[in-house]
Amino acid sequence: MKQHKSLQVLGIESSCDETAIALVANGLEIRANVIASQAELHARYGGVIPEVAARRHIELLSPLLAEAMAQSKAAWCDLGAVAVTRGPGLAGALLVGLMAAKGIAWSLGLPLIGVNHLAAHIWANRMHEADLPLPFQCLLVSGGHTALVLVKGPTSMVTLGHTRDDAVGEAYDKVARLLDLGYPGGPAIDRLAQTGDPQAFALPRAWLEGTWDFSLSGLKAAVRRLVERHRLAGIPLAVADLAAAFQQAVIDVLVNKTINAALAHGVTTIAIAGGVAANSTLRATLGAACAQRGWKFSAPPLALCTDNAAMIAGLGYECLLAGRQDSLTVGVLPRWPL
Ligand code: KG4
Ligand code: ZN
Repeated sequence: MKQHKSLQVLGIESSCDETAIALVANGLEIRANVIASQAELHARYGGVIPEVAARRHIELLSPLLAEAMAQSKAAWCDLGAVAVTRGPGLAGALLVGLMAAKGIAWSLGLPLIGVNHLAAHIWANRMHEADLPLPFQCLLVSGGHTALVLVKGPTSMVTLGHTRDDAVGEAYDKVARLLDLGYPGGPAIDRLAQTGDPQAFALPRAWLEGTWDFSLSGLKAAVRRLVERHRLAGIPLAVADLAAAFQQAVIDVLVNKTINAALAHGVTTIAIAGGVAANSTLRATLGAACAQRGWKFSAPPLALCTDNAAMIAGLGYECLLAGRQDSLTVGVLPRWPL
């Protein structure tokens, strides 16, 4: 039998506050996936400070690279390509990863592939489940982006709608700050909401009928008004109830619009991607809505939902197969739509 040599791709991710390196064989087999979160460093500011993030990426990249290579037991000469997040993200942070990737690609004579971070989040679904049928519709919910995307292939994704203001993760983080729950706020609200009553507060939902777009600023403002009113009146706030009501308002709209968009486009496979895809109630609610219709639902494991470099290497491999490769002179793309 003919033996196919595996193609190992080194992935580098540094678009925000996570420095991550991975080694993935044939786009699917994760041989190493290491990540260093800077969340603690930024927690005191309640959000990511771009210059601080970029400087920390510089400090973390080399030791993480050594760790990933050791974990994978691969030698440098085993690498077949270098994939790196080119955007969207923080310019300074992206630059650190791209420069490292260029240095490695140049010194080893390997192809360099600049990867779209959002497309990689989405493609994590196919890395998790290699036979997930195409096309599928993906709800992309991260700290910086919220979109409904029709996925025809690794290099063919169509945005059906997106947020007109805050991203879902951003709304979680801002509401968490209002409720003094710290940063990042998503996991804290997720945990607290489990113990609250979602019916305790009536919060608005922006349906934006006739579009597949989203809007979260009205909901965020409603939470702020409630918090201020309670503070001014000296009434204790039922924080768990408010967290649950906020989460319910977000999920109602996300799930409803995802299902309706799929009906409109005749798609029966639904996927979820991005950091907020780690949310337990969102996964359960969307999963149940799909099951009710006999549709397929895919949700990557948590480690592939939040920022990681395995997804960068995985999509980088697909781009390489599709004949895409970048020159060593490419720059970062801080604003790079799908
Ligand atoms: O995709 P990601 O790791 O980074 C970006 O590319 O933005 O997403 C980070 C976002 C943060 O806003 C964080 O609060 C949110 O994902 N997040 C969650 C959960 N875990 C992370 N939001 C809701 N529930 C969670 N369990
Ligand atoms: Zn991300």
